[in-house]
Amino acid sequence: MDLPSSIRSAVERLLENQPLSALMRASERLTRRYRGEVRDGHLHIDSELAALAYLAARLPATYAAARAAMEMVHNVHPDFQPKSLIDLGSGPGTALFAAADCWPSLNTATMIEASDAIRRIGEGLSSALSLESNWQKGDVLRQLAPLPAADLVTLAYVLDELPLDAVEKTALKLWQLTREALILIEPGTPAGWQRIVAARQVLLEAGAHIIAPCPHHAACPIIPPDWCHFSRRVQRSRLHRQVKQGEVPYEDEKYIFIAMSRQPVPAAPPPRILAPVKLSSGLARLKLCRLDGTAGETTITRRDGSLFKAARRADWGDGLNLSPEDKA
Ligand SMILES: C[S@@+](CC[C@H](N)C(=O)[O-])C[C@H]1O[C@@H](n2cnc3c(N)ncnc32)[C@H](O)[C@@H]1O
Repeated sequence: MDLPSSIRSAVERLLENQPLSALMRASERLTRRYRGEVRDGHLHIDSELAALAYLAARLPATYAAARAAMEMVHNVHPDFQPKSLIDLGSGPGTALFAAADCWPSLNTATMIEASDAIRRIGEGLSSALSLESNWQKGDVLRQLAPLPAADLVTLAYVLDELPLDAVEKTALKLWQLTREALILIEPGTPAGWQRIVAARQVLLEAGAHIIAPCPHHAACPIIPPDWCHFSRRVQRSRLHRQVKQGEVPYEDEKYIFIAMSRQPVPAAPPPRILAPVKLSSGLARLKLCRLDGTAGETTITRRDGSLFKAARRADWGDGLNLSPEDKA
């Protein structure tokens, strides 16, 4: 799930004359601050150079994660066809690019971002899309300018920059802006998963229904030090490799998300595969989150016929129908 070509070309044009050494230094600084979850009252993307480094080093991966999360939402709830979006902590417009690709029904977007540097870039990039986007300076922690609710509200890779106690309050604030569905995406780290679990809980208490990835509304059955997350492989461009000083032509972006809906999802979602499928001769071992609220390994053998074939083809993050009943 690569960036749409119009956005990729626009990003390449922005980066083509930038000195590589400066981009590399800015990217290292961003990585240090993101990995360390530094909360010192300063935005990580605080200059034009930091914003350009984000485009080079992070945008392809956060796009892939957002697009994959939206694909799971679409697979569970194909009738959901949002027309309007509010995206907060928009960065360069990542969630908008992914939502526009997933849902061609989208025709307006309100983008709220605290950093002037990345907001300017995002506003420019989103002119490549055939929809109307309105970019505003705003801080999700403060009172936002009054906004009409949107069909879809997104917050991608932002909770990890907010104060530790802001997760529940922010999730509820965004829920107030949500007409149909809310998607929160975080890095696929243990801490990112904990934030998603906290948001999931408070949103369920507010009456929300889960669309994806969980196939049930019970408490998350995963027990630390394990954590729930997914992975998406991203091909690295030459510049991406240079900026990140990586030899390998790809990287695996780990992410976690929760998608909540105002209305119950019409069809029951299938059990979700929570890890790479382990295959050996005649056997497929799958770590599944099941409809009854449990999670664990399920073994499917060649004797299971078409189910075995489906399990062999299935991937981490897919839903797998074990019908007629959830296989133990
Ligand atoms: C890691 S970037 C994610 C950008 C984009 N959503 C993505 O997925 O690529 C986090 C963004 O949130 C913005 N941000 C951080 N704190 C914010 C706040 N309190 N209000 C609004 N935006 C904020 C940052 O400036 C940055 O652009």
